[in-house]
Amino acid sequence: LVTNVPSTPGDGTGGASASASASADAPRQDVARLGILHDAAVLIEDGLIVWVGAAGDVSGAGQGTDSGAGPVIDLVTDAQGSSVIPGFVDSHSHIIFGGDRSAEFEARMSGQKYSAGGIRSTVAATREASDEELRARTRGFLAEMLAQGTTTVEIKSGYGLSLESETRLVRLAAEVTSEVTFLGAHVVPTEFAGRADDYVDLVVGDMLTACAPHARWVDVFCETGAFTVEQSRRILSAGAALGLGVRVHASQLAPGEGVALAVELGAASVDHCTFLSDDDVAALAGSNTVATLLPGVEFSTRQPYPNARRLLDAGATVALASDCNPGSSFTSSMPFCVAVAVRDMGMTPAEALWAATAGGAAALRRTDIGVIAVGARADLVQLKADSYVHLAYRPGVPLVHTVWKDGVATSV
Ligand code: NIG
Ligand code: FE
Repeated sequence: LVTNVPSTPGDGTGGASASASASADAPRQDVARLGILHDAAVLIEDGLIVWVGAAGDVSGAGQGTDSGAGPVIDLVTDAQGSSVIPGFVDSHSHIIFGGDRSAEFEARMSGQKYSAGGIRSTVAATREASDEELRARTRGFLAEMLAQGTTTVEIKSGYGLSLESETRLVRLAAEVTSEVTFLGAHVVPTEFAGRADDYVDLVVGDMLTACAPHARWVDVFCETGAFTVEQSRRILSAGAALGLGVRVHASQLAPGEGVALAVELGAASVDHCTFLSDDDVAALAGSNTVATLLPGVEFSTRQPYPNARRLLDAGATVALASDCNPGSSFTSSMPFCVAVAVRDMGMTPAEALWAATAGGAAALRRTDIGVIAVGARADLVQLKADSYVHLAYRPGVPLVHTVWKDGVATSV
């Protein structure tokens, strides 16, 4: 059982020590941070975790929960040859859209470069789709994600780019997640070509007013070809003034000032972080802003992968997310992201698992998910493998056996 909560040394549960130790057989720091328990059990009641510990102690614990909230409804024990991890927290997705861009991907694989301009073709297809079509598509992606162990999904708007269409997208997103992000500033829509500042006026005015009630977050694509740092600051500050938390897309295609802006504004997360200066890394390390890395993007755009090792060594908090979208990263699979992050971004399997669970929770400023701990939501994944290491060791293999979302089990 991987709790993400280091257990107390010597507590008799076989858990890993929380502190690094010089002794030869002590777990490495990154593994210790996971809080691994062997032969463990979890008790679930009313969608929450009410007890975690050694399987041998479970009967006493069951009567001892003493919450008065009704019977214990489920019990997860490590069956032989399997392991249980927290549900993945996918803190960055764009899964409300129409159409697809497989032709663009095919052209890219024969040498064409990715550009933000492709977003506009998805905007056209999204505007044409009915609410029912968009709902069905998004539900399909969510089912795909759940089957791969993802139990929390953040969803961004950004393929509407008009007052009416952005409002529709945040409203539809709010039907399926509490983590809704308003991304009206994804690119400048065709109707505003050459008038980017007029579009920013619309975003900070009527669009934010209409969308903010449906959203928890505001985001901007701060990049050449999308929005400048000044425009981004204006939009993010206006969102923050309406009570939205800040997230930023930055340094995906080239170095820029987006990371510094995110840190300056106290953003919960700055996402992509592919091209970072030493100052960016130092700023992230000295801040509460999570660096969210999106391995599917570099996979699908043939760009160099972001250097997770550099961020971790500097002391920054790193999350992994899918960025599931039809242009730059059409994967919904967190296990895939974990595998690529380990293979190509300098992460250990333990760091990658943490980043895809507790890291994603940190990027959403949540403490009730991404961990197996008393009081947390009962969002768990049982793997058909005796260790989380297999997520990276056996890439592309469907290892998810059962997923619990709010205590409700789905067998895959
Ligand atoms: O996060 N970078 C900006 N937005 C998306 C890509 C969207 C698209 O190409 O459709 C991203 O990669
Ligand atoms: Fe994105």
